Amino acid sequence: SAAEKGGHDYFMLKEIAEQPRAVADTLLGRVGADGRLTLDEMRLSDQQLRDVEKIIIVACGTAYHAGMIAKYAIEHWAQIPCEVELASEFRYRDPILTRTTLVIAISQSGETMDTLMAVRHAREQRANVLGICNVNGSTIPRECDGVLYTHAGPEIAVASTKAFLTQLVAVYLIALYLAQVRGTKWGDEVFAMIQLLATMPEKVEAVLGTVEPVRELARSLANERCVLFLGRHVGFPVALEGALKLKELAYMHAEGFAAGELKHGPIALIEQDLPVVVVVPPRARPILHDKIVSNIQEIRARGARTIVIAEEGDETVAPYADTLIRVPAVPTLLQPLVATVPLQVFACELATARGHDVDQPRNLAKSVTVE
Ligand code: G6P
Repeated sequence: SAAEKGGHDYFMLKEIAEQPRAVADTLLGRVGADGRLTLDEMRLSDQQLRDVEKIIIVACGTAYHAGMIAKYAIEHWAQIPCEVELASEFRYRDPILTRTTLVIAISQSGETMDTLMAVRHAREQRANVLGICNVNGSTIPRECDGVLYTHAGPEIAVASTKAFLTQLVAVYLIALYLAQVRGTKWGDEVFAMIQLLATMPEKVEAVLGTVEPVRELARSLANERCVLFLGRHVGFPVALEGALKLKELAYMHAEGFAAGELKHGPIALIEQDLPVVVVVPPRARPILHDKIVSNIQEIRARGARTIVIAEEGDETVAPYADTLIRVPAVPTLLQPLVATVPLQVFACELATARGHDVDQPRNLAKSVTVE
């Protein structure tokens, strides 16, 4: 009913709107008065976390994209080698796991069979397994050694939105906590990031307040056949997530690419008026930012219609953007929290314009409990 959907036409719209709250709830009680993180509920001791020599993240679908972002955060802040793998692939090779390997399984439902099988496989090899889950008492957290719950609240729409943002918060918390207990060289940065995380709900809220032009853009592209997404660094998984949402909801051909790979293949796909969404990293990281700006110029010179997501105040991209979508300026590693939101709105609106039910996309299930 409309009441259940909080006055929205779809659960997905309600869940997109709930994201500032979901992010805030996932932070709640985890930052102490002294500005340090307390994640004792996780059930893994600080000593266990200090002993970790390698991290492997396993997940499926949208949760896998959160895992890809986690890799950047963990390697930077916690300085622990980190791999991320689709749960369904991890299980069927012979991953090298030891007692000092920490496997992190990310799953909204806690019931995804591929992820559950990966958890069991990891535990059989004596690795410690930490779950990041949204559903209390579901199977995956029950089988893990430790768990960090996301507090997105029930997610009804099949395509994941608020759960994804809270998974990002959870992986940032874990990366920063590992840095805190291990005392990495980034002490001050880690402390500053913990404080910054607290401001993310209002930043997400700010994005939601500015998405009307994204809706208009989506409606104008309702008859397109294909949309490409480009990103670099953590913008790459954001691009993959934007493309996944479009496939899931609008049944359109959509691909996400690492912007650096453009010249190794995807540029051959660029034709006149092809919509290409580009996620631009903050200017604070010129080494990433400037490369993306040249990518935008390259694709535009070949006729692409450029839809550029860039931080407020970044004027360098304006001349090459057919549509410019602004997000609040935040550090690079945190940018997925704001950059993903317009892509969710984009896919949702485009699918609706094509006449699809975004809560129940064809052929998909909210949680896939078979392998
Ligand atoms: C299904 C859903 C996706 C979800 C994936 C993983 O494919 O349609 O939206 O990302 O499962 O689900 P999980 O509950 O493990 O996060």
